[in-house]
Amino acid sequence: MDTFEAMETCRAMRYLKPDPIPEDAIRKLIHAATRASNPGNSQGWDFVVLRDAHIKAKLGDAIRGVMSPIIDAMASAEQDPAGRRMYAGVKHLIEGFEAVPVYVFVCGRVVYPYENPIEEMVPAALYPAAQNLIVAARALGLGTTFTTFHTLIEPVVRDVLALPDEVRLGVMIAIGWPAREFGPVKRKPVDEVLHWDRW
Ligand SMILES: Cc1cc2nc3c(=O)[nH]c(=O)nc-3n(C[C@H](O)[C@H](O)[C@H](O)COP(=O)(O)O)c2cc1C
Repeated sequence: MDTFEAMETCRAMRYLKPDPIPEDAIRKLIHAATRASNPGNSQGWDFVVLRDAHIKAKLGDAIRGVMSPIIDAMASAEQDPAGRRMYAGVKHLIEGFEAVPVYVFVCGRVVYPYENPIEEMVPAALYPAAQNLIVAARALGLGTTFTTFHTLIEPVVRDVLALPDEVRLGVMIAIGWPAREFGPVKRKPVDEVLHWDRW
């Protein structure tokens, strides 16, 4: 698939089939993620690929417990139909948490600058990698959704994934074969945000 087409249609896919994803495809995604630009080529990233049903069940319970009331409140306050559809998708993803075949937790370490490492460099490394991963997934026909649900239950996540204390949790990406059509992303026109030479 053409790179521009993959980026143009790389929407959050919250409706995913439970069908397994071949290990080769997952390796390709992690390969793509690790080709990303990153501070000083320090590559302070690690990827935890979650497929285990028991661990998913524990996380699903914890995430639903915290997130469901929040999403319900946000959905009922939302006036815009597109926003309502998005919350319906989020709710679907949470309700069917265990049915998603793979989650990738993009994790990082505080390693850069080498002489005086700072926390800010962790997301600076993780987000380009995560974006590479979702675009590569789109090119393979896989749907993804970036999520930050786990931030509300971080102690549970750290425990079930056995994360070492020094490892920071970045984004959690749900991955599966799409159960809906990929469509174009809706973004502001370029001319609203493009500034030539000065603001
Ligand atoms: C850092 C980050 C965090 C996000 N967190 C969530 C999330 O917790 N749950 C979710 O369903 N989508 C999440 N998203 C997806 C965005 O909601 C989505 O990209 C945005 O609404 C635009 O929609 P589109 O990508 O389908 O065009 C997140 C995206 C980013 C970049």
